[in-house]
Amino acid sequence: MFDRLCMVGVGLIGGSVARAARHYGLSKSIVGYGRQEDLQNLEAAKRLGVIDDYYLQIEQALRGADCVVIATPVASIESIFELLKPFWTEHTIYTDVGSTKGSVIAAAQRVFGSVPDNLVPAHPIAGAEQSGVDASIVDLFVNKRLIITPLGHTRTEALHKIQCFWERCGSVVSMMDVNRHDAVLAATSHLPHILAFALVDMLGHKDEQSEIFKYAAGGFRDFTRIASSDPTMWRDICSANKNEIIPLLERTREQLDKIQRLLENDDSQQLLTLFAYANTARQRFLNQFEGNMSKSITFEVQPGGVLQGEARVPGDKSMSHRSVMLGSLADGITHVKGFLEAEDALATLQAFRDMGVEIEGPVNGCLTIHGVGKQGLKAPKNELYLGNSGTSMRLLSGLLAGQSFNSVLTGDKSLSGRPMKRVTEPLALMGADIKATEKGTAPLYITGKAGHLKGIDYVMPMASAQVKSCLLLAGMYADGETSVTEPAPTRDHTERMLSGFSYPVKKQGSKASITAEGHLTATDIDVPSDISSAAFFLVGASIAPGSDLLLKHVGINPTRTGVIDILRLMGANIDVLNERIVGGEPVADLHVVYSPLKGIDIPEHLVPLAIDEFPVLFVAAACAEGQTRLSGAEELRVKESDRIQVMADGLQLLGVDAQPTADGMIIQGGPIGGGVVTSHGDHRIAMSFSIAGLRANAPITILDCANVNTSFPEFKDLVKRLGLALVCTES
Ligand code: S3P
Repeated sequence: MFDRLCMVGVGLIGGSVARAARHYGLSKSIVGYGRQEDLQNLEAAKRLGVIDDYYLQIEQALRGADCVVIATPVASIESIFELLKPFWTEHTIYTDVGSTKGSVIAAAQRVFGSVPDNLVPAHPIAGAEQSGVDASIVDLFVNKRLIITPLGHTRTEALHKIQCFWERCGSVVSMMDVNRHDAVLAATSHLPHILAFALVDMLGHKDEQSEIFKYAAGGFRDFTRIASSDPTMWRDICSANKNEIIPLLERTREQLDKIQRLLENDDSQQLLTLFAYANTARQRFLNQFEGNMSKSITFEVQPGGVLQGEARVPGDKSMSHRSVMLGSLADGITHVKGFLEAEDALATLQAFRDMGVEIEGPVNGCLTIHGVGKQGLKAPKNELYLGNSGTSMRLLSGLLAGQSFNSVLTGDKSLSGRPMKRVTEPLALMGADIKATEKGTAPLYITGKAGHLKGIDYVMPMASAQVKSCLLLAGMYADGETSVTEPAPTRDHTERMLSGFSYPVKKQGSKASITAEGHLTATDIDVPSDISSAAFFLVGASIAPGSDLLLKHVGINPTRTGVIDILRLMGANIDVLNERIVGGEPVADLHVVYSPLKGIDIPEHLVPLAIDEFPVLFVAAACAEGQTRLSGAEELRVKESDRIQVMADGLQLLGVDAQPTADGMIIQGGPIGGGVVTSHGDHRIAMSFSIAGLRANAPITILDCANVNTSFPEFKDLVKRLGLALVCTES
């Protein structure tokens, strides 16, 4: 990649950069530059083979270098630029690894007059507390984030090369605006370091008088780990970014004052609310961190098995989202039972907490939502991160379009690639102001248009409950009537739940209408089990000879039962028992017994009623006698993954004759073999291939299964309990 890499500074993070560059073969030669006082480190670096040679004269170090990495403390960067200036060349790429970027840009401006276009400012977020080349680590950057903060005129080839360099060192590279970088880092890195240093400073003095450290345990150690970092380096970083840090210190002080007052007033309820919020916010961070950065989960399924027994699968995802949304906007307190404690629904819950709604729980699927009323949401302080959840993003975009504050909706890689024009376009017709990327994807920048939305009469081009719900929620804030007509029936939980909260919604055939004339009155919600989660077991028991399963309390809303209809057409033996209405939604127990399946042409009118169940229905088709054809299901291509392509690829790999078409698939039933398939981070793909194991003749390994947690965290334990030999490994 490079002929000669020149490391300016090898004592801090530079040693690790050089080691990684060497290990991954990113430069033919690597040299170091340092001052006389760095000699020991430079010699050690050479001795350890981290660099090929070192120089105390910058001119010699730079000779022939096509890439220069500045890895010195941020406070010294200006003097390094001065040093480099006389030898700065067009064909060399310069980059740095400083923790603050505004200061680097400002230093470059002072030294060069304007920032050179071959300087690519970068920041690997990979802290190591120790300094010195001996402490350098070859894999310090693996799976760690690296932020590049290019300017408008930064040269594209230089940017691209630095991006490749870091990706090949194992980093997850993102681009960010300089100011945003500094603000984000002030909050997530600089402030925690200051707090750790401050606490240890204070307690250290106390310890000198009363020897308290010897009683300190894990909590103290965990909290203060970062106070072992290099003090000079942190002094420099904090000074360089003080403009961002000082306001945060003020907010921290206010927060501590608040806690002090709660303690003084014995306000244990508020204290609990605060701690509980922090607890879930941290969990959300860990989920994001582990989900995005490091944890890779693999399922390994042994062939065969029989599903037997009784189970209650977790709560319905669609209803869980809506219970939080409508409960938050209601007047009064809503109690929710059966809430789905999985990442998608928790993302919605967190978003409403971020907008000032007090929500207790979830504890065993129970929530207490202290509704703030239709106009009571507050501006979120930060962007609302919605993880993998399309439902959260699409429904919230409608709800937030008519608020009196602005908001930003972001999501993970899969959600950031999903089409949002289907909601932003009709919302724009209502007068909403939402900016998306050029491709029409997230992040969505929403300017609240309170009082300026107007109702529309919209005929949806596709059958989508998310689009319908989005527009109905926007309609609650629009002038006049908002109507949505659907080309085919889609799930109607929004309409039903709005009625449950006493909000008027009109239904005339395929058209649903709403106005702003209404209030939501708090109510109690009992969320039934999710038929989309039950579907894995309906198929599993149908294809594994000897199976006999009872699935309790499953939601059988007629807009969701396509999977039962399709399986029955294929010859499945499913009984719907004990039908009842719970909180306005039909619920039943489903009894499924093994029965040989036959291939069918799936009626197109059932497609929207089984839209999430096709991955596992494809597995049923692979186990059926004869051919199964699906058409009219092009929507599957824009779900959490392209479910037509991903399932076809995986089934083919397992030896199944599965031919993808533009809007469906043609599957010839036959034996299922073993092999390694990937879920492409799609929860329903991961679970579907696990179920295929019941009829496979060799083990199936499914890669990239962490996202099962978005809808069904208990899946692996439940499926094991019922009879499938599944082993889950984390790395
Ligand atoms: C959902 C609607 C469906 C479904 C999704 C949940 C909802 O999406 O696939 O899992 O809760 O409204 P579309 O509206 O895109 O079909």
